[in-house]
Amino acid sequence: MSESISIKSPREIEIMREAARIAAGARSMGRQAVRDGLTTRQIDKAVHEYIVKSGAVPSCLGYEGFPAATCVSVNEEVIHGIPGKRVVHNGDIVSIDLCATYKGFVGDCAGTYPCGEVSDEAKKLIEVTRQAFFEGIKFAKPGYRVYDIGEAVQDYVESHGFSVVRDFVGHGIGRGMHEAPEVPNYRPLRPRSNPRLVKGMTICVEPMVCAGDWRIRILKDGWTVVSADSSLAAHYENTILITDGEPEILTMAEDI
Ligand code: MF3
Ligand code: CO
Repeated sequence: MSESISIKSPREIEIMREAARIAAGARSMGRQAVRDGLTTRQIDKAVHEYIVKSGAVPSCLGYEGFPAATCVSVNEEVIHGIPGKRVVHNGDIVSIDLCATYKGFVGDCAGTYPCGEVSDEAKKLIEVTRQAFFEGIKFAKPGYRVYDIGEAVQDYVESHGFSVVRDFVGHGIGRGMHEAPEVPNYRPLRPRSNPRLVKGMTICVEPMVCAGDWRIRILKDGWTVVSADSSLAAHYENTILITDGEPEILTMAEDI
């Protein structure tokens, strides 16, 4: 990818903050809808309604043909689950991923949440995935390069006996949901460009973690990504702004 990385102006950053605030609120609505007996479609509906009510557009709906506002991925599903009739039960873990476009800019965030009481392994997976994000963004500042983030994510995840997905990566974000640069959660075997991080960049850091092996496959619906060994998977994502110092997590509001 030789596409250049957009640097946001202060005005653009203000709009990004608002788009991200809405996305974070929508994630919170989705999290609250992770309840025994509700369908993945009902979770999507809660997210979708919140985004629209907030004056934003659910950017995933129609993106490359994706049929909903929210990706809802249960248990061994890693990402891009299509909401539908599936009922969520106590003991399941549910990943929610959504984007909101506000005044032309996109906010993107995801998280994995337990339904009722879940296994110790599931709890640990959720916590390690979330913490991996925070380990990664310790390097999300000027003086470091994009791959430094993923190396920290990978080392942290593997030190806990889990694995990071390789086939999907984080990304720059702004007017587009997916902009340059790619932000892998691992050390690339064949490194391509490894840009320096510069104040005013906005990127999504999004560890996707499997309890077992990192290899994935895609279901016949053309979207749902599952762990190839059917092990549990979790996802955690925020949109962040590179500043002079610590990164600003734009989608942090209401996250628990
Ligand atoms: N929000 C996802 C991401 O982190 C993308 C969703 S794919 C879509 O990049 F098709 F649902 F939009
Ligand atoms: Co993303």
